[in-house]
Amino acid sequence: VAHAVSSDLVAQEAVQQIAPDGYPATPVWTYGGRVPGVDIRLPQGGRVSRKLINNLSQPTAVHWHGIRIDNAMDGVPGLTQDAVEMDQSFDYDFVAPDAGTYWYHSHNRSTEQVARGLYGPLIVEESNPPDVDQDLTLMLDDWRLDPESAHIVDDFDNGHDLSHAGRLGNLVSVNGGFDPAYPVGSGERLRLRLINASNARIFDLALDGLAGWIVALDGMPLAVPLPVKDSFPLAPAQRADLVVDVTSASEDVAGLASIERDGGYGLVRFQVSEASTSQRQGIEPLPANNMPEFQYDQAPLHRMSLQGGAMRWLEGAKLGDQDLTGRELAQLGRFWALNGYAERPKDPFLDSRLGQVHRIEFVNETAFPHAMHLHGHHFRLVLPDGSLGPWRDTVLVDRGQTRQIALVTDNPGDWLLHCHMLGHAASGMMSWFSVT
Ligand code: C2O
Ligand code: CU
Ligand code: CU
Repeated sequence: VAHAVSSDLVAQEAVQQIAPDGYPATPVWTYGGRVPGVDIRLPQGGRVSRKLINNLSQPTAVHWHGIRIDNAMDGVPGLTQDAVEMDQSFDYDFVAPDAGTYWYHSHNRSTEQVARGLYGPLIVEESNPPDVDQDLTLMLDDWRLDPESAHIVDDFDNGHDLSHAGRLGNLVSVNGGFDPAYPVGSGERLRLRLINASNARIFDLALDGLAGWIVALDGMPLAVPLPVKDSFPLAPAQRADLVVDVTSASEDVAGLASIERDGGYGLVRFQVSEASTSQRQGIEPLPANNMPEFQYDQAPLHRMSLQGGAMRWLEGAKLGDQDLTGRELAQLGRFWALNGYAERPKDPFLDSRLGQVHRIEFVNETAFPHAMHLHGHHFRLVLPDGSLGPWRDTVLVDRGQTRQIALVTDNPGDWLLHCHMLGHAASGMMSWFSVT
């Protein structure tokens, strides 16, 4: 029986050492006094009951990313609730049907509020979790800090960022700190829950001194765990659950690194001690969530063009019911569009009956990657050979790429579809649809 212990989730300012030692501490916005926010953890089928109290200087709202949630609890101001004003509160109360690694973050002025630190982990535990020595949640982020003061640079509406890759930081953090180290034993098996909380950075993750498998993506178990060979991308909002064995006996070579296009860097170090525990062999898949089975080959195919950006300006698109030129849109701070609509008010194309199957083909016509996210549903990737791939809630569509997804709209309500490069969403790459 689901029971709830109601408690507060206070959105408040705090000061935290995010930059390396020797730099000043950084004023941040938090859920509960530090970044990442309060660790919310519950058993599968359990209930989250939290009173958001807004002690910030702006209205805010909380979105529970990846949860197949009741629409009224989805946290989208103007669509599912009103933004929570300063000194006001809102009661979030919902059941989490699926086990997995999720997260929560602000969904009001998110380009700014998430960049200031308003996010935290939401972990829904399996009833029979894998046998590991440690279960670590690692939230990756990047920050744009002034090098002298270590204050967050206040340029969230910067047109260059909005019209290019998005807001990229100059300092990468893990769990709100620089270059953390975790003690582990040689021979130990770890579960790593990786969550990309950054505004726009795509991490290209690689293991050092660890051998492992990806066992879940965006919270959803893979039917067959995938060995980590070289590197794998983690786009904004995406999660990957890894099971890794510590194979190294030396701290120098044990860790998690990003080998991004802009030069590699370490993210996490593991301080390896001799203390060896039982060696485990092989890997079992995580228990599957209760996801719908569906046939998708008869489903209508919706083509969705991702358009805009500085390199190829919008030829012209609609904002509401006005036709505007690319220049006019840019003057209004809209640089991106979906099928010719910047900030499409509502996409009738995707309006849907409960239980309907859809295929969406994202065609990236821009010079930048996008991470397309759907609220309230997970979808399956349609692989190039036509088979159904993993369940996800956010799909990376690289420049020039076309990616297809299939889903059943089995959750009634009004749901957003947007790019999770938060500056892109704020400047046009956003739409919504109704399931009735
Ligand atoms: Cu995690 Cu609408 O977003
Ligand atoms: Cu979401
Ligand atoms: Cu984008």
